[in-house]
Amino acid sequence: MTSINKPRILTGDRPTGPLHLGHYVGTLKNRVELQHIYDCFFIIADLHTLTTNPSLEKTSMINDLSRGLVLDYLSVGIDSEKSVIYQQSRVPQVAYLSLIFSMLITVPRCQRVPTLKDVLKDLHIEKPSLGLLSYPVLQAADILMVKANLVPVGKDQESHVEVTREIANTFNKNYGNLFPVPKALIGDVGTLPGTDGLAKMSKSVGNCIYLSDDPDTVTKKVMSMYTDPTRIHPTDPGKVKGNPVFIYHQAFNSDLAEVADLKARYQKGTVGDVEVKQKLAIAINDFLEPIRQTRAKYQKKTGLIDDIIMVGSQKAQSEAQATLDQVLQAMKLN
Ligand code: TRP
Repeated sequence: MTSINKPRILTGDRPTGPLHLGHYVGTLKNRVELQHIYDCFFIIADLHTLTTNPSLEKTSMINDLSRGLVLDYLSVGIDSEKSVIYQQSRVPQVAYLSLIFSMLITVPRCQRVPTLKDVLKDLHIEKPSLGLLSYPVLQAADILMVKANLVPVGKDQESHVEVTREIANTFNKNYGNLFPVPKALIGDVGTLPGTDGLAKMSKSVGNCIYLSDDPDTVTKKVMSMYTDPTRIHPTDPGKVKGNPVFIYHQAFNSDLAEVADLKARYQKGTVGDVEVKQKLAIAINDFLEPIRQTRAKYQKKTGLIDDIIMVGSQKAQSEAQATLDQVLQAMKLN
């Protein structure tokens, strides 16, 4: 697992529901590859989900959602032997570190983080909790706790990595050089549109194809996908560019000749939407089949997911405790 020389990566997700094809294209595929080059930590950031809604209804779902997320990770090839998969709430040291970091950043600085404004608007929150304001500080504790060098995240998370960098610099300046100043690794992959043609897949909109969808569900979702709205008859020349059906073909159909042929015929008006979609449903189901098989393999073994979470969280804990000891020592608090 961990080795001295490899640069370290930390990234992860809040457990809010099943992962979809957009996650695969955007980050999961990349994570599976990064495992071979880096020392990887994948966090199930359950405490972060409390920042917007800490109701009992929500908190009581966290463990199940976390298990689901781990199963999604494993199904695509994240390897718990190679990488550390852990649940944030099982590493209490992170809360202590977050508290110390909260003294090294000002309230106005946290108020300027752009995601805060977005969340307030999107979720119609009038007054943020203190926890929501300090969301990026907790994230900094996640990242610095394992002394990560790189943080692969989407563009929307860049401002949080910036906060992390500032906290690391401030700490190093005040108490001595302890933390590497991590870099965000922003994926340059385009986002996958939703099945309804909207800019991206989103659970709340209901335009997702999940990694855990069965073949019939996938076929149904594909057959009702949004395509070129100006095309009425199969003989009308259709638009390929920006058409979600072709974006998916490009992303998931391994038969490149078929994709090229469908595109050409679509543009000429010699293929119907039904055929294009049927072929897409087959391609996506082919793509998902090995993922489903891996999922089934892990699901069959009762207790396996819980064990993986426990073992990973113990590894993360020992990293966190070592860092916390160094922090307290550097501050002469030990
Ligand atoms: N805030 C991240 C998200 O919503 C999840 C997260 C929590 C995270 N801690 C992290 C991502 C540390 C990268 C590194 O997607």
